[in-house]
Formats: sequence, structure tokens, C-alpha cells
Amino acid sequence: MTALTSALDPAAPEFAANRTAMLDKLAALDAEHAKALAGGGEKYVARHRARGKLLARERIELLLDPDTPFLELSPLAGWGSEYAVGASLVTGIGVVEGVECLVSANDPTVRGGASNPWTLKKALRAHEIAHANRLPCIALVESGGADLPSQKEIFIPGGAMFKDITRLSAAGIPTLAVVFGNSTAGGAYVPGMSDHVIMVKERAKVFLGGPPLVKMATGEDADDEALGGAEMHARISGLADYFAVDERDAIRQARRVVARLDWRKATADPPIAEDPVHDEEELLGIVPGDLKVPFDPREVIARIVDGSDFDEFKPLYGTSLVTGWARLHGYPVGVLANAQGVLFSAESQKAAQFIQLANRLDTPLVFLHNTTGYMVGQEYEQGGIIKHGAMMINAVSNSRVPHLSVLMGASYGAGHYGMCGRAYDPRFLFAWPSAKSAVMGPQQLAGVLSIVARASAAEKGRPYDEETDTALRAAVEQQIESESLAMFLSGRLYDDGVIDPRDTRTVLGLCLSAIHTAPVEGARGGFGVFRM
Ligand code: COA
Repeated sequence: MTALTSALDPAAPEFAANRTAMLDKLAALDAEHAKALAGGGEKYVARHRARGKLLARERIELLLDPDTPFLELSPLAGWGSEYAVGASLVTGIGVVEGVECLVSANDPTVRGGASNPWTLKKALRAHEIAHANRLPCIALVESGGADLPSQKEIFIPGGAMFKDITRLSAAGIPTLAVVFGNSTAGGAYVPGMSDHVIMVKERAKVFLGGPPLVKMATGEDADDEALGGAEMHARISGLADYFAVDERDAIRQARRVVARLDWRKATADPPIAEDPVHDEEELLGIVPGDLKVPFDPREVIARIVDGSDFDEFKPLYGTSLVTGWARLHGYPVGVLANAQGVLFSAESQKAAQFIQLANRLDTPLVFLHNTTGYMVGQEYEQGGIIKHGAMMINAVSNSRVPHLSVLMGASYGAGHYGMCGRAYDPRFLFAWPSAKSAVMGPQQLAGVLSIVARASAAEKGRPYDEETDTALRAAVEQQIESESLAMFLSGRLYDDGVIDPRDTRTVLGLCLSAIHTAPVEGARGGFGVFRM
């Protein structure tokens, strides 16, 4: 055993200060999560219940195996936008009849469950996850279709929703639609494209056009049951494969459909793993409130990997990036974690080598972010920092083992890319409430703008007003700061959720388990040309 030791002192004032700062952020996060849980608010929830219907999360809870976890994804979607937090859709990974499935459920209490631009992003991300990890998809449908006032944002890109469903099916990944209510117009193609369809008696309404539209289009008078009711689809059109007498019956039948899939994971579950030696609770006290203060990521690794057991690779070389091998809930992982914030040439080369090794071993990689980016300055440019950073980005881009990213602190500039930021397709990406991500730090960005404005004024021979400059810098700094925060980025679907640091091991374990539904195989070549 090579268990990590810890230098963390839970009695130290810095630990207490860090912990307080993190708990404050977690309280703020809880308040925002509560908004997603509240859906459309009391009035609409009460109306929904009065109709004898279950809420989206209740449907999910009944669908999943008892006492199994649900890894909800992007609950803050739409945060900071004009739309409700959560984007009228719940998505996540849960276990049905022992099978890890990608579950999505419209929230009909939020604007009739209509899809806005953030709903669309969230739904497409869920499909991406199902595809990459070969998770059967279960859609719990009840939606007014496109959010009509924002149709220009969603109508054209929204076509991908239906394309995805059939491409999942073509890839051999089962798709199941359980229709609890409205599934009109475009929404009708959710059951239309799915492999298996269940509809609830007198509740499911699936038609291309409702009675008013039909009247307008053809003059025909039709009632909605005859046009698109569950019974009609089960007996006449054949769109429904299974007819459910009520919501609970529909959920029971959905579980039966999944049981009959006989879905098998590519990798058998590993044996129950040893907990870390060091206390996960202490993860609250590691990241300083001020991200300029560095912290040792080994303290984090020691609290998330099995038995705190970590074999460090090249510990004496490129010391601002920690790399090494561990297991997490029994799954082998390679870890890359920023130490001093800045990535230099040595760190970049070390990362590129480590990523190639992980690909040889078919070992998934975990990226723990706290980086201000690649080093700038004459010495480093002359030393080839661009080509070395490019080497790391090349390795991360062409690596084929699954990547998991966790933004613990800073994730700035190209460092975000090299550490497998969102655009580099990590299988999952989560942020701690302490995380910040942007092209650069707010002060640096405001300072750069000020220098550029000053130079431009000088060139034109115009005076430069210092007072305006100070005000501008402050305003820009504040703007960039607010746009760098985890909640803001999560609202834009730049991560799969903001998590409590104490849940990191559990969340990564759930992800690794889902990932191993599909075969895990590294690249056997196929990297871009490495500039040496
Ligand atoms: N776009 C934007 N807002 C919508 C919406 C949509 N597609 N569907 C419903 N809403 C809004 C309603 O305006 C209402 O807002 P309000 O409470 O502020 O007045 C709220 O959501 C709830 O709608 P309501 O009709 O009261 O709920 P319901 O449960 O009785 O009926 C629907 C839900 C979805 C059946 C019904 O609203 C409907 O038919 N919507 C239009 C469906 C449609 O044709 N969509 C086009 C798809 S391309």
C-alpha cells in the first residue's frame, strides 16, 4: 500500500476559514437547487396534484429500484436566464431493474413542460451521455412541446432531439417513452421515434395537431381522445405498445420493459472497495476562499480514492501537476491534478506522456482542476510553452479512455482545455461551488482591457481619463467575476452539475459505474502530430 499521508490540520484557522467559505457557498447552492425542486411553484404543483398526477421527480422515484441513488444532471440548467431554474426537465442516471438508465422527465408544472433553449441543451446532453455510455433511455413525457415565444431558438436545432432518439436505437441502445400527458406536435415524435412506448389511459395525448389546429387546417371536428388518446393509439394507430390504466401502472410496465432488455454491462462491477483513509468531510476545508492561495491536490486525492492509495507518476518532475494511479470505487483511474496553478512546459509534457500511458492501459482519467493556465512570459515562450501546451491538448483531445473532470478551483484559459474542459468531451464534468472558469481571471482581464484602451488612446493622440478607467475596470471585473461562477456556468450547461465536495467520491463512483456499461478502450495510436 502506498497510502497518502495528510498534512491537513482540521484545527488550524485556515481550515476553519476555508470550511466556512465553502459552507456559505453550499448554502447558496442549496437555495438554487430548491428552486429546481419547486418546479413551477405552489400554484401549478397544487393544480397538477388536483388532477391526480404525480410530479416529475415522484415519477422518477417510483421508476427507480428502491433505495438506489439518482445522479441528477444539471439541475441548475437555465440559472441566470429568464427561464425557470431546472429548465422544465429533470435528467439523470438511475437504476431500473438493476440496469443503469438515462432517465428524463418533463416537468409539466413549469409552463406546461414546454421546452426552452436550456431544456433543449439539457435533453441533448442527456442523449450524448446515453450514447457514449450505452445507457438505455427512458423518457417520462408530458410537455406542451416547444416554448412558443422562444421558438426561433429551438425549432431548428430542436430537430436533433428526434434524430438522437433514432440514432440511439440504431446504435443498439434501447429507448423507451412513457407518455403521461401531452406530447403534441414535435413532441409526438418522442414516442414516434422510440423503440418502446407506454401510454396512460385518458391522460396521454399524442397528436401532430390538437383539435383546434385540425379544425383550422382541415375543418374537421375531432375530440382529443379520438385524435391522440392512449386507447386509440393502443387499439387503432398502434403507436402505443402498452396501455397503462394509470401512472403507477405505466411505471410498473416501464420497469418490465427494462427487465426484458436483459441489458448487460461491458465490465462486471468491481468488488466493494475500501473507503479512503482520510475523512471525506475534510474536503470542505481544503480550497481557500481566495483561489490565489494554492493548495495541495493530494489532500483531495487522499479523500476520494480507495484506501487513499495513490502511486504518483513522475513526482519530482513538473511538480505543478500531480499525476498518478489509483482506484475509485474499485475502478482503476489515472489522476491529473493541478498543484501550483500554473502549467509549465514540463507539466504539459508529463501530462501528455501520462495520458498516453492511460490509453495503453485502458484506464479512465480524472482531471482535478485548479489552474490559471499555461505560463506566459519571454522565458516560457522561448522555452516552447505553446508547443508543449499543444502537446497536452493534443493528447487530451485524441485520448479515447473516458475522462471525468472536476473543477475544484480555478479553471482558466487554455489550462481549462488541457485539463479536459467541457469542449474536450469529458464523459462527465462537475464543479465544486468554489470553482471559477473564464478566459482569464477577472482582474487580469480588466487589466488587459485597460492597457489596450490606454494604448489605443495614445495612438490616436487622445487623452486617457483615469477616473473612467478605474470605473470601467471595476465594472468589467465584476461582470467577469459573476460570469465565472459555478452557478452561472452550470446554468449554461457548461457542466453536469455543481456538487458538494464531500460527494465527489460518490458522484465519480456513480459515473465510473455508468461508464463501464460501455467497453472502455484507450487509443492505440491516432494522436495528432506531437510537436517536440
Ligand atoms: N409555450 C409557452 N408557454 C406554454 C406552452 C408552450 N408551448 N404551453 C403552455 N404554456 C404556458 C401557458 O401559457 C400557461 O402559462 P400561464 O399559467 O402563465 O398562463 C402555463 O404554461 C400552463 O399552461 P396551461 O395551458 O394552463 O396548462 P395545462 O396543464 O392546462 O395544459 C398544455 C398544458 C401543454 C396541454 C397546453 O398549455 C397546451 O396545449 N399548450 C400548447 C401546446 C402546443 O401546441 N405546443 C406547440 C408544440 S410545437
